[in-house]
Amino acid sequence: MTALDAEELRGRVESDFSRVVDLLNQKIALKSVSAEGITGEHMKRSAQFVAEQLAQEGVDARVVQSRNPDGTDGAYEVIGSKIVDPAAPTVLLYAHHDVQPVPDASAWSTDPFVGTEIDGRLFGRGAADDGGGIAIHSGALRALGDDLGVNVKVFVEGEEEMGSPSFIPFIEAHRDEFDADVIIVADSGNWSAEVPSLTTSLRGNTDLDVTLKVLEHPVHSGQFGGPILDANTLSAMLIGSMYDKDGELAIEGLASQEPVGGLQRDIDEQGFRADGGVVESYRLAGRDSLASRLWVKPSIAVIGFDAHPVEGSFNVIADTARFRLSIRTAPSQRPEDAAKAVTDFLIAHAPFGAEVRVETLDQGMGWSMDPDAEASKDAMTAMREAFGVEPVNKGEGGSIPFIPELQRIFPDAQVLVTGPEDPKANAHSPNESIDLKSLKNNILTEALILSKLGE
Ligand code: BES
Ligand code: MN
Ligand code: MN
Repeated sequence: MTALDAEELRGRVESDFSRVVDLLNQKIALKSVSAEGITGEHMKRSAQFVAEQLAQEGVDARVVQSRNPDGTDGAYEVIGSKIVDPAAPTVLLYAHHDVQPVPDASAWSTDPFVGTEIDGRLFGRGAADDGGGIAIHSGALRALGDDLGVNVKVFVEGEEEMGSPSFIPFIEAHRDEFDADVIIVADSGNWSAEVPSLTTSLRGNTDLDVTLKVLEHPVHSGQFGGPILDANTLSAMLIGSMYDKDGELAIEGLASQEPVGGLQRDIDEQGFRADGGVVESYRLAGRDSLASRLWVKPSIAVIGFDAHPVEGSFNVIADTARFRLSIRTAPSQRPEDAAKAVTDFLIAHAPFGAEVRVETLDQGMGWSMDPDAEASKDAMTAMREAFGVEPVNKGEGGSIPFIPELQRIFPDAQVLVTGPEDPKANAHSPNESIDLKSLKNNILTEALILSKLGE
């Protein structure tokens, strides 16, 4: 294809777009929440739907159930290929069909499982993360149709939101079905709905469960209160001790780094506060550019805390407390090293010598892109063409831990991390949505990348 065909492709994406929105609406209605059971019937149905959609684009897509490392049944994965010319380059298209749970539908303005269009955005759980990725691949393959000049392989995963437990054995068992020159992971996003980006880095992640014990059993808070601090207070002190006065983590051995490829543009604080719904009086924690705090410095969130509920509480001093820390690690730090640094810190800083036990859970490595890879340059050109503005590359604070695994197994593959999200997408939150105009431009971008790679 020549450059002239960009307008032809744009026309094709445009005329196919109502089908793509319909696909997304059907996908949202499938409620493919992997947290409700990776091996559930609802996940199988979701995988089958995705396979049928890709089959319409000429991919011999099929559903394969993976196996966990311990031999038990794993996720329903969609794999397949469309081989046009054995001599042409091969591109692996990745997305995931599982979605985050909806713990409280009343926090949504629309039904989370009914796609609803409002002001150019389509709302629904998984509309962006990662129904948008599936929509991009489907739309790009449809736009190229018989003009596709590369071999395409697809992998639409069914357990990404659960940390991809069966991923490694699955790729190892299906090496040939994954082997590619370029891998497009459509599970991240753009600077904004208007400004496209390649994702230059992702943080890694590791979770720790911390148990703090001060007493053999709960005791009367009047009789013992004063010298004995309750386990909740001691936990709060322990958690607080990880930060300095600016709210920056102060843990030896927990790494930070510079933005990958240099910082092209910092994140605007006002927009960031508005997108996050941050209360007005709150001062942002940490030092350095906002972008580096989000992308390449570590962060820790308490994502679970076992304590007595307020309702029905009575006058006792809690003997133990348990909390879960979710640690986001700098892209280049091994998560096990980060977990060890935090574990050592927590044990060394046990307030008043309370007993602190730490258990390490899931871990995933971060990732950085190769800005000089040929495919990165092609992708930037395609984004410029499709969106009509200069791309601004960005890191991501989120994690996609299988990318470094893919890169390790296929060291020569060039990985492009793209995707449909923008700062207003509310992935994992109530009122998740995708910007439809941006989705159209993302589809055109991917069609242009595939077309360029096929030249
Ligand atoms: N699509 C996200 C990753 C992401 C988040 C990319 C924000 C760009 C912006 C992915 O689905 C995700 O949520 N990953 C998990 C991984 C975890 C389960 C190991 C995450 O980041 O929490
Ligand atoms: Mn995702
Ligand atoms: Mn997600």
